[in-house]
Amino acid sequence: MTFANGARGVGGLLICLIAWAGMLHAQTLEVQSPGGQLKVQFQLKEGVPYYRATFGQSPVILPSRLGFRLKGAPPLKDHFKIAKKQRTSKDETWTQPWGEEKQIRNHYNELRILLEETGNLHRRMAVVFRAYDDGFGFRYEWPEQPNLKHFEIMDELTEFVLSGDHTAWWIPAFQRNRYEYLYRKTRISQIASDSIRAVHTPVTLETTDGLYLSFHEADLTDYSSMALAPVGDHTFTCELFPWWDGVKVRADTPHRSPWRTIQIARDPGGLITSHLILNLNEPNKLGDVSWVHPFKYVGIWWGMHIGKYTWASGEKHGATTENTKRYIDFAAKYGFYGVLVEGWNVGWDGNWIENSDSFRFTQPYPDYDIEELSRYAASKGVKLIGHHETSAGIENYERQMDDAFAFLKKYGIEAVKTGYVGHGRGIKWHDAQGNVHYEWHHGQFMVRHYRKVVKKAAQYRVMLDVHEPIKDTGIRRTYPNMMTREGARGQEYNAWSAGNPPEHTTILPFTRLLAGPMDFTPGIFDLYFDQYRPQFRVHTTLAKQLALYVVLYSPWQMAADLPENYEANPRPFKFIVDVPVDWEFTRVLHARIGDYVTIVRKDRNSDDWYLGSITDENGRTLKAKLDFLEPGRKYVAEIYADGPDADYQTNPLAIDIRERLVDSNTTYTIRLAPGGGQAIRFRPATAAEERVIAPYREPTTP
Ligand code: NOJ
Ligand code: CA
Repeated sequence: MTFANGARGVGGLLICLIAWAGMLHAQTLEVQSPGGQLKVQFQLKEGVPYYRATFGQSPVILPSRLGFRLKGAPPLKDHFKIAKKQRTSKDETWTQPWGEEKQIRNHYNELRILLEETGNLHRRMAVVFRAYDDGFGFRYEWPEQPNLKHFEIMDELTEFVLSGDHTAWWIPAFQRNRYEYLYRKTRISQIASDSIRAVHTPVTLETTDGLYLSFHEADLTDYSSMALAPVGDHTFTCELFPWWDGVKVRADTPHRSPWRTIQIARDPGGLITSHLILNLNEPNKLGDVSWVHPFKYVGIWWGMHIGKYTWASGEKHGATTENTKRYIDFAAKYGFYGVLVEGWNVGWDGNWIENSDSFRFTQPYPDYDIEELSRYAASKGVKLIGHHETSAGIENYERQMDDAFAFLKKYGIEAVKTGYVGHGRGIKWHDAQGNVHYEWHHGQFMVRHYRKVVKKAAQYRVMLDVHEPIKDTGIRRTYPNMMTREGARGQEYNAWSAGNPPEHTTILPFTRLLAGPMDFTPGIFDLYFDQYRPQFRVHTTLAKQLALYVVLYSPWQMAADLPENYEANPRPFKFIVDVPVDWEFTRVLHARIGDYVTIVRKDRNSDDWYLGSITDENGRTLKAKLDFLEPGRKYVAEIYADGPDADYQTNPLAIDIRERLVDSNTTYTIRLAPGGGQAIRFRPATAAEERVIAPYREPTTP
């Protein structure tokens, strides 16, 4: 350490004394949340920056280090002094152009600390904290300066030292299948003992003193995404995804990191209604976004996953002109916005995952007459939805990108689903010398690519749904055309694998969905699809498929099953036709991570409310107070409940559909079968309905 080497003679003694005094009087700066519950402290001890946080009486983060290791330059982690501190506050309410909540309050206190090295280099780095009542965020900023121009981060040293060996819901990072894993629930100590290098965020914890915390990041821009490495039994450290050469982030000043975010709630439902991540993103940069709007869609999609159709050309090709017309007719009949067509373009023949360079984004297969289909769709008031499967062939896609978006526009297509199927560190690119390199989906290289596509799409006024995406960090606030994404195990896993166990969807709202909307694609009615793939099935009841439309928020919601399965079941299908995709309010009525969750949401465009309640493999009864309804008003509850003897394993199709009159004084009993769910539409009753529809009566317990 240079410090010790210099500490010789009288001068050295003096330095030692100063250092000792500094240790005794570590400089501490505090910022509190507006309500005062949350206190975040910054500390400089002997020139080393730390932070800590407490919520009420509970420590949330114990003193944890901040800083960086750089390539070819001394680390930015110690020998600092505080050059400047600034406090600001904000209390504003902003409107989401679309979303799960219309008005969002952004209320925080900010503390910005500019650090400067005391050595020769005088490099500067700021740490900015924002304290909210529902958690906090902090980010690093590197101002423009003579001794820090281009720099390369080898490691972000940010620590999260926790107050105990908490329970965590997590998926592993640095894996073959990106974010597509089942969540595990273990103590933190178990993650390390299972030799897991790091977990993806959001990772959600229940602390030993009963708080719920979720760790994630906001505004991931030109940086690598953060996984969390477990250290011992109560610490996570930041683990960034490296470039091919081990560098984590390449940057030029001025630059800044994403926000590191910690959402805090006393009950798990509070995590769902926290808007910390969105608030930490910048406001809309696109200006007029009247062309961006949520919708419901159908598609030539599930048919491929269950093997009825193929993406590739041939006898079973799904994307034919004739088949697409059938889907357009179906969409028109039931009022769906659009039809997604996968497998429409050249590139799917052979091993499309390996032959990513063969995809052509402006060249339809010969049996897909896009000219005719765009005319036909327009005549029916339906939109085609584009599909760009890149299979992670980034160079191939970027070369064609402008043409690809111009092609969409030419055919009146306003929305595109993109895809990046590719495994592990498998994203190939060539540098200027022609050398080949391989990258993760989650490193800075791909963060840049995904953002480039968002901006390109905006330039052409196209809405986006990204599969195999970079995780959502709230950039939909800044770029509202970046609407939804996959980034977890969705419905498709039920089509061709052991599938998702019932508890999976009771964990998603508290983990993956905290990052942002998910295109899960609910609504499978033919839960066994025996005709196509008898060895697999969907592990829910039918009613639970309906409930997922309310529970798993997405501004694009797919009616994922084959049209024939909906036509055969018009009564439950009515719920999918009715359910909105744009909400004014969201409330969580019941929440136990991995067990059950009940969410109610109010439609933005009517007085209706919708309820979705789901359970894991255990049946249960939950009581819901309907006090969210407008007082003094009668509502018709259109109830889609598990039948009395429903069970996801033995009798998943039993559904009980009925109407009852309710009001804001009603206490409603939600019965959920094992692996089941319930969906309800509440709509204001007409005078005639008030007379004829039976009032709801609480069931008498046997
Ligand atoms: C994976 C996506 O998640 C899925 O929706 C899509 O059908 C396939 N890739 C093919 O692009
Ligand atoms: Ca459970």
